Amino acid sequence: MEKASILRMVLMLGLLGLYAEGLGVNWGTQATHKLPPETVVQMLKDNGIQKVKLFDADDTTMSALAGSGIEVMVAIPNNQLADMNDYKRAQQWVRKNVTRYNFDGGVKIKYVAVGNEPFLKSYNNSFLNITLPALQNIQNAINEAGLGDAVKATVPLNADVYESPVDNPLPSAGVFRPDINGLMTQMVQFLNKNAAPFTVNIYPFLSLYGNDDFPFNYAFFDGVDKPINDNGIQYTNVFDANFDTLVSALKSVGFGDTPILVGEVGWPTEGDKSATTGNAIRFYNGLLSRLAANKGTPRRPGFIEVYLFGFIDEDAKSIAPGNFERHWGIFRYDGQPKFTMDLSGQGQNKLLIGAQNVKYLDQSWCVFNPDAKDLSKLNDNINYACTYGDCTALGYGSSCNNLDANGNASYAFNMYYQVQNQDHQACNFQGLAKITTENISSPTCNFLIQIVPSSASSSMPSFAVLLFIAALSMILLA
Ligand SMILES: *[C@@H]1O[C@H](CO)[C@@H](O)[C@H](O)[C@H]1NC(C)=O
Ligand SMILES: *[C@@H]1O[C@H](CO)[C@@H](O)[C@H](O)[C@H]1NC(C)=O
Ligand SMILES: *[C@@H]1O[C@H](CO)[C@@H](O)[C@H](O)[C@H]1NC(C)=O
Ligand SMILES: *[C@@H]1O[C@H](CO)[C@@H](O)[C@H](O)[C@H]1NC(C)=O
Ligand SMILES: *[C@@H]1O[C@H](CO)[C@@H](O)[C@H](O)[C@H]1NC(C)=O
Repeated sequence: MEKASILRMVLMLGLLGLYAEGLGVNWGTQATHKLPPETVVQMLKDNGIQKVKLFDADDTTMSALAGSGIEVMVAIPNNQLADMNDYKRAQQWVRKNVTRYNFDGGVKIKYVAVGNEPFLKSYNNSFLNITLPALQNIQNAINEAGLGDAVKATVPLNADVYESPVDNPLPSAGVFRPDINGLMTQMVQFLNKNAAPFTVNIYPFLSLYGNDDFPFNYAFFDGVDKPINDNGIQYTNVFDANFDTLVSALKSVGFGDTPILVGEVGWPTEGDKSATTGNAIRFYNGLLSRLAANKGTPRRPGFIEVYLFGFIDEDAKSIAPGNFERHWGIFRYDGQPKFTMDLSGQGQNKLLIGAQNVKYLDQSWCVFNPDAKDLSKLNDNINYACTYGDCTALGYGSSCNNLDANGNASYAFNMYYQVQNQDHQACNFQGLAKITTENISSPTCNFLIQIVPSSASSSMPSFAVLLFIAALSMILLA
């Protein structure tokens, strides 16, 4: 082989598998049974994922991330935005949740997410007046702490903060929503002043959900019969069109070059007729290969920083948006991969590496008792079970939708029983239920066994200990 081709091969090998490092994931923790944070961090490492986005700045999560070298976006939940309008509180937040972790072997914080989709219409403008001041205070406090070059504050926004006019529905006509245009302009100015990115969550699944007129293939990346022609640019998928609508909106307020980070993008696997494993595979295959090729969008070619939503299923999320809400994970509740996925974007048919040494509860299920005489309270008991347990798999289009009435009751009772860590008293339901060691799952519908709840104490050294060691070694070295 001649030298040039060997060199080319080495270069190509270097590129293969590289994209996983540019790819981030969202680590949400709204689950009844969380995997130990150390286990989740090991999953990130095992799969070569080097960026993670959080929804708070929880101590145990941060301790597990310490020393991992993984880049982190920590977050301020919406219900703390009002507090952050007070500069002193913002300084405290930054001291406690950013500066404290800034040492060799600490946490590599790169972004602070100020709020989470605070301008969603369903929040009735509750956060409209307090988000920008919070963003400003947090970034200013970061700058004052001397970390402004390394740590950027940003606001993850839902894609409905921008739009194209009804009479000209093309990406090139994108503008910010008229009711918040002034606010968005000020926010974009502030982000630019601090060289911070604009963060947006883009969900092709939601374009499809509840909209039967939406052209199905346009939600994916493998082509459509009739692309949308925008002044000569052909759009073949809604991700590009949506992203470029934002590019145009940024341009319309004078900041067309603002860096854009996709804070959330993904596909759920349960809870709706489009939320299937097959569609998720199709979506991720298309998305990941484009990202790996640094294709970008027609108006923004090149690398895009993207965080998949989400890493692990969360069975305690609100299902107000829909039953699919608890099924966004690329991993199941127990940290096992759901489908084949190649984060390097090479489209190889392989599974991600799942959580190691997961501890499950006993092989014990709670099911409907066929000997029960009085069935008058059955529905009340099912409703009770499904208020605390996750019954979304029973709904239309979901994996357990084909159960009969008794099967429905069994499914509901079992989910409650598992949430209650198989407490025997949790399997009574006024005599309608009984415990069994027989697995009544079918190939399509899984009656699951929960994992052992992760306790607050862990075998890892606590963060305080790490800090102590860091301080000690500094003294010794001095
Ligand atoms: C730091 O973050 C945690 C977790 O999100 C939050 O509960 C706490 O209030 C923050 N600390 C300060 C001093 O604001
Ligand atoms: C928003 O307003 C609607 C209608 O007034 C109400 O039903 C809903 O609970 C409100 N949501 C929030 C988050 O305040
Ligand atoms: C936000 O501020 C504007 C202007 O000061 C005011 O009219 C509006 O009522 C405020 N909205 C909320 C939800 O507090
Ligand atoms: C089982 O429950 C699901 C979801 O609540 C419902 O759609 C279905 O009709 C139920 N099946 C029977 C046989 O009751
Ligand atoms: C129960 O059976 C299903 C398939 O029938 C299987 O996938 C699942 O792993 C089994 N559960 C346990 C806890 O063994």
